[in-house]
Amino acid sequence: MKSEHPKPVLLADYRPPEYLIDTVDLDIALDPIKTRVVSKLSIRRNPQSKITGKTPLKLDGELLELESISLNGKKLRRPAYTVSETGLTIPAPPKEPFTLEVTTFVNPEANTALQGIYLSRGVYCSQCEAQGFRRITYFLDRPDVLARYTVRLEADIAMAPVLLANGNPIARGTLAGRKRHYAVWHDPHPKPSYLFAIVGGDLALLASMFTTRSGRKVDLGIYVEHGKEARAHWAMDSLKRAMRWDETRFGREYDLDVFNIVAVSDFNMGAMENKGLNIFNDRLILASPETATDANYESIESVVAHEYFHNWTGNRITCRDWFQLCLKEGLTVYRDQEFSAESRSRTVQRITDVRQLRALQFPEDQGPLAHPVRPESYIEINNFYTPTVYEKGAEVVRMIETILGREKFRAGMDLYFDRHDGQAVTIEDFVACFADASGVDFTEFMRWYTQSGTPELVCDLTFDRRRKAAELTVHQTLKPSPGKAKKQPQFVPLAMALLGENGKEMDIAVEEGKEIRPGVLAVTHHTTKFRFGNVTSRPIPSLLRNFSAPVNVTIALSDDDLAFMMHHDSDLFNRWQASNKYASRSILAHLDAKRPKTLIASKASKFAAALEHALHDSTLDDAYKAELLKLPAVADVAREKAVRVDHAAIFEAHRAFSCAVAEKLADTLDEVYAHTSNGVKFSPNAKSAGRRALRNAALTLMTMRGTGDDYARLEAHYRQASNMTDAAHALVLIAGVDSPARDDVLQDFFERWKDDHLVIDMWFAAQAQSPRTETLDEVKALCAHPLFKITTPNKVRALIGAFAMANPLQFNRADGAGYDFLAEKVLEIDALNPQVAARMLGAFRSYRSLEPKRKGRAKSALKRAAMATRLSRDCREIVSRMLE
Ligand code: PHE
Ligand code: ZN
Repeated sequence: MKSEHPKPVLLADYRPPEYLIDTVDLDIALDPIKTRVVSKLSIRRNPQSKITGKTPLKLDGELLELESISLNGKKLRRPAYTVSETGLTIPAPPKEPFTLEVTTFVNPEANTALQGIYLSRGVYCSQCEAQGFRRITYFLDRPDVLARYTVRLEADIAMAPVLLANGNPIARGTLAGRKRHYAVWHDPHPKPSYLFAIVGGDLALLASMFTTRSGRKVDLGIYVEHGKEARAHWAMDSLKRAMRWDETRFGREYDLDVFNIVAVSDFNMGAMENKGLNIFNDRLILASPETATDANYESIESVVAHEYFHNWTGNRITCRDWFQLCLKEGLTVYRDQEFSAESRSRTVQRITDVRQLRALQFPEDQGPLAHPVRPESYIEINNFYTPTVYEKGAEVVRMIETILGREKFRAGMDLYFDRHDGQAVTIEDFVACFADASGVDFTEFMRWYTQSGTPELVCDLTFDRRRKAAELTVHQTLKPSPGKAKKQPQFVPLAMALLGENGKEMDIAVEEGKEIRPGVLAVTHHTTKFRFGNVTSRPIPSLLRNFSAPVNVTIALSDDDLAFMMHHDSDLFNRWQASNKYASRSILAHLDAKRPKTLIASKASKFAAALEHALHDSTLDDAYKAELLKLPAVADVAREKAVRVDHAAIFEAHRAFSCAVAEKLADTLDEVYAHTSNGVKFSPNAKSAGRRALRNAALTLMTMRGTGDDYARLEAHYRQASNMTDAAHALVLIAGVDSPARDDVLQDFFERWKDDHLVIDMWFAAQAQSPRTETLDEVKALCAHPLFKITTPNKVRALIGAFAMANPLQFNRADGAGYDFLAEKVLEIDALNPQVAARMLGAFRSYRSLEPKRKGRAKSALKRAAMATRLSRDCREIVSRMLE
């Protein structure tokens, strides 16, 4: 909308701020259309900056209506200041510290971009990361300017009886006339502006208490819509467990007297870690057995923990600039993954995290949007809240732990907290703490932060029976990515074992090549060789155990080898990996088979036999068995295929294979389904959730056969469901097939939940994900449904997002209509909310690997979007990177 060719911001151009702001006093008078913000800043020159005689002060500011400005109490008039679309400049400020007072107005009701102060279902709230504070007042809106904030909020009592800001509450009162009131909050911790937050609204409170291990009493509050208090208990429970966990695992205590969470319905992302006042998408707070699935419970637990953990990794120690985003995000995702692993099953957590990484990050890293974990340039920072920064960033931290071991890793973290508390730092600062605490050299490891792309490890294992020796050769290939043609080999910690004939790990001796720790090899070059002694029989290699690095590994393994690993591998992650590989490889083989039926039949029966063995293994828990039963998704197989992807062909092969497996496993599936049936009272704990997951995975597989009995069972599953996990699972399956009960069930669900704005999103999503050919027309019709709202990100994600990201078959229709629809919707959303629009465009990230016809159609849809006259900077950047 602004400039056609905005200039990229470069990491190399970073300079320390010329001015610092020590304190901020804000007086915010909330009003739906004319909110007044009076800001008093104490400003001084930064002694660290090479400031000369006259250095103008340039404050960021967007979409602000300026009323007045004064300096040291004296009103300023032009040309003592100038104002533009992007900020306010004072050409010649005093040399000595001074106070600047600025009064501006903003319009919350008109704020559809949901950055700055906006209204969500009548609740005033704010969102400042990354650069939203400049939409509230003029400021040095960059993370390396840390200030102490005092905030006075004023609002109508009727509309906003609750007034919240960061820090601790220090005063409140009613104004003359008794219609308005105010509250004052003070945050003693210096913070960057992106962590600023306020809330004003008529909200219900779920209150509780937490005593930190040193005895500080903390008032905990979760604010939700009236009547939904009971649905906040799980979030509260998760919060307390997270607070305790951070004390025991990382020695981190909470540092204010209150910790508040507010759930709002309109939110661009998942949640936000504002100091002492986290603001959440209500989807990630509210849960009850009737309204939320086990997956919802799990994400609530992990996101509540994630935002809480940011208090140390992000807030106490923050980022010097936005290129360092992974400093807080990768590290905090690593921390929340660890928390979930320890609250549930570590192996299942690992499988879930790796599935997610492969489904979202790998395609990003292999396509036109590839960027390093720490990017070097951006046009719109909002476009860099990506799976690469978050999920790959977490993997990089995990590799540091794998290299150092638990204890030295903790020592490095302790040093980081000690050394950098209260600072805004870089990735170099972070990694230096591990190097200093352990003596290990991380110079080469830094490439994980600077090079994009997923390394491919092509491995070869030879066995010399006479010398009882084996040799492993690892070729590392790094394909070029945008902006990075030639790459250096990366340092890969490769966890591995050789399995003997009896299925046990051999006790091998590493005779050549470097071992980082027992069982973890150091892959360091384009070609790295390892020789092992004491190899007594033909070994089966179990490589990349527990997914020790975010890479792809290939090695020649027969179907029998994979089945063997499915039985024996003592690394349960790799046991699942073997099964997953077996299935996706079988589906791919079907694609170019001459006699697909015979091939599928033989592959499926061997695979089913191996699965059956696992399903009867009493040492494996239900949640794990469920992961085995969930065959790779169509999108997973498409990713394996990598080139000339034809989703229709893959869908058919997938269906044929799943159906054959389900037929072979018929008795076992019946047994599993009957065995795991409900009856006990609902609990969201890992064990009960695992049981439901297994039952639902069995149901999915049985439904693939599509017989009358299968559809009858499916309908009964829906009708008898006593919790949302089962009901929603059945709903998605029924919406995806032409069962006679389909319309009835969809209608039933709608009637039951039409007044619940969260639950009804499942109804939209279930229809949008359906592989039936009618889906696109139905999605178009649903865009006009009275409950659909294009300005609400959750609705957009449930309907348009689910269609584009979770329906590979219909989004990738051969006629290109799916692409056209998305491009058209993106333009419509872009005019309202550029951040959400740009995210939707991500659905095109793998278009270059499509078969030529689809690829051409996707490209024309993108080109049409690129030609739109009013495209935001957000979408412009994504579209041009895609078309480059
Ligand atoms: N920082 C948030 C997190 O915890 C994400 C976020 C980014 C939220 C930008 C809003 C806006 O991951
Ligand atoms: Zn985060």
